Amino acid sequence: LIQTTNLMAQYSANYDESKVPPLILPDPFVSDKGTLIQNISDWENIRRPELLEIFRREVYGSIPKDFDFISFQIVSENQNPYPDEAELKEIDISVTRNGETHTMRLNLFLPKSQKSAAPIVLLINYKPADPAIGLVEEGFWPVKELIAKGFATASFHGETVAPDDPERFTEGVIGKLYPEELAKEDGMRTFGAWAWGAMRAMDYFETEPRIETKKSAIVGHSRAGKTALWTGVNDSRWAVVIPNESGCGGAAISRRKFGETVKIINTAFPYWFNENFKKYNDAENTLPIDQHMLAMLVAPRALYFSSAREDRWADPKGEYLSMKLGSRVYSEIYGKEVSFPLEFEKLEKPIIQHYAGYHIREGKHNLTLEDWDHFITFMELNFSQQE
Ligand code: GCU
Repeated sequence: LIQTTNLMAQYSANYDESKVPPLILPDPFVSDKGTLIQNISDWENIRRPELLEIFRREVYGSIPKDFDFISFQIVSENQNPYPDEAELKEIDISVTRNGETHTMRLNLFLPKSQKSAAPIVLLINYKPADPAIGLVEEGFWPVKELIAKGFATASFHGETVAPDDPERFTEGVIGKLYPEELAKEDGMRTFGAWAWGAMRAMDYFETEPRIETKKSAIVGHSRAGKTALWTGVNDSRWAVVIPNESGCGGAAISRRKFGETVKIINTAFPYWFNENFKKYNDAENTLPIDQHMLAMLVAPRALYFSSAREDRWADPKGEYLSMKLGSRVYSEIYGKEVSFPLEFEKLEKPIIQHYAGYHIREGKHNLTLEDWDHFITFMELNFSQQE
């Protein structure tokens, strides 16, 4: 795993707000042909598909969805660390295309106390973890706390879909099921593969009577946060989308070039995004989109961004700005009461509302129990207000 501290030493990044260029952002509400987008129909039929296609082609690459079979096998290999509170289900998801099969592992904890179907929270994990049950350090995936609140929660490790490694990323689903993607400049790469994995997890949840998929949230931290956002944009089965500290190529506005930049990320991790994205190294101003427009593609479903004060590499202000600007889709297109009235510098408490929320906490780059406490408040609010 490439460590952020090494990267920060290796690449010189700007941390001086006075050196951030004036922001001239593309207009989310004018279509490529110049149509002014003012209502839900024009947004959903014209502008949203246009933007989604630009992000696919220029940034993240495809997520091919065709395959011949999918099957779910319940295995029993590991001991449940929480036998009193939860039932552990280990599920091997096997997908076959053109005679080749790839199997990924999903770990699901179901609350024992539940009487009706439970809401589901999926965490995309990429950290070193117990490879079998996907458990990481306390706080990063707080199974006990989520179960106590009545949520079912699941996780899969990115590694079981596409290895997080420049030499080996094709060894999973890309090379096995979709090898033709590799020759394409806009083909599937690592984030596309992880997003594909999250979609297959949702395919399983839809077969599980103890889960209420209408109340579902996808969560990811950092590189998995970028993926959670891209998944939520592409798969409308997720009701709530929560990328934590997702930074460059996630929530943060690329044109600010504060902390990690497009060039840095494409140099250190050339296998995360597609080949086309590299055209924008040192040329952010030529991007036809910026990340606030990606945020908009989640609407009218709910979106939450979060930052950490010392996580300057991920540009907390850029993350907040993209929520503030992106949330205009809820107010201006969908007519909902959503607003982020405060300047970044004045933020103290989390802003948690129906449809959109944001918090910044003290401390370093990480996913912590404090972050999850706010996610839970946001999920509970949004699930309870579902129409
Ligand atoms: C690196 C990378 C970031 C990424 C982070 C992580 O720091 O530069 O883009 O978010 O790793 O995944 O923790």
